[in-house]
Amino acid sequence: MIVARSVIEMKEKRGRVNANVGFVATMGALHTGHLSLIERAKNENDFVVVSIFINPTQFREGEDFNRYPRKLEADSVLCKAAGVNLLFTPNVEDIYGNDEPTIKAPTITGHILEGKFREEHFDGVLTIVMKLFNIVQPNRAYFGKKDAQQAILITKMTNAFFFNIEIALCETVRENGGLALSSRNIYLSKSEKSEAFKLSKALFEASKLIKQNEIRALAIIQVITEVLKPLPIDYIAIVDRELKAIETIKKGETIILIAARAGTTRLIDNMWI
Ligand code: PAJ
Repeated sequence: MIVARSVIEMKEKRGRVNANVGFVATMGALHTGHLSLIERAKNENDFVVVSIFINPTQFREGEDFNRYPRKLEADSVLCKAAGVNLLFTPNVEDIYGNDEPTIKAPTITGHILEGKFREEHFDGVLTIVMKLFNIVQPNRAYFGKKDAQQAILITKMTNAFFFNIEIALCETVRENGGLALSSRNIYLSKSEKSEAFKLSKALFEASKLIKQNEIRALAIIQVITEVLKPLPIDYIAIVDRELKAIETIKKGETIILIAARAGTTRLIDNMWI
């Protein structure tokens, strides 16, 4: 596995690759969810690049940037074992220099749901993804449905700016019992963790109802609200693939999203129906 620690190094290594490049962008603290993206990228491309970069511009003041888990050594071992060809681990100075913020998330879809609770979060996400796309120049890039709004906004940006990159969205990997894997799950105490399972439980209940032909969004939101109790809820939303709220479920076109808190940790989960 080649390791590129700077933009110059990455560009130089990329220039020498004459094969189909699959790319997985991460912030590290890798878990089985990340590894599933890497595995798919391995299956579908000749050369796989993984980036590990904890992107400061997507964290707001007071969020967990400083305590976000940093595990570069362990991550590097995992990447090597997973057959990653090139690991890109730039530093903040190299990526941002003295940039002024330039990229803005879409005015509507970037400022609802996560974008409403985390002002400017998606400006930061889209900025780093655009930078990484330009540096890595992948043919395909892999993102998790776990971060549904992020995945949709990145797909839209790729199309809007005519990037020659195919975006592949990957299924959410869950622990036994349903909790979606997340690098942030390590913040949860034992009791918070058992509360956190309520998010996936609520989604599974919703999916059961839909299988029984319930199509009213409101009825489904009510059930989810019950299952989540007593967790503080940021939002429960039922939207189409453009993130527009809908009143009736249409199979193949719907996403149910939840954001709630267990202790001080914010958790998100969703289900694509
Ligand atoms: P990070 O949270 O490290 O996630 C990296 C990728 O892994 C994202 O595409 C995310 O959706 C996916 N992922 C996370 N948990 C998953 C799970 N349980 N199952 C499947 N995929 C999962 O998302 C980011 O980093 C950053 O915002 C980034 C895109 C790298 C930009 O900084």
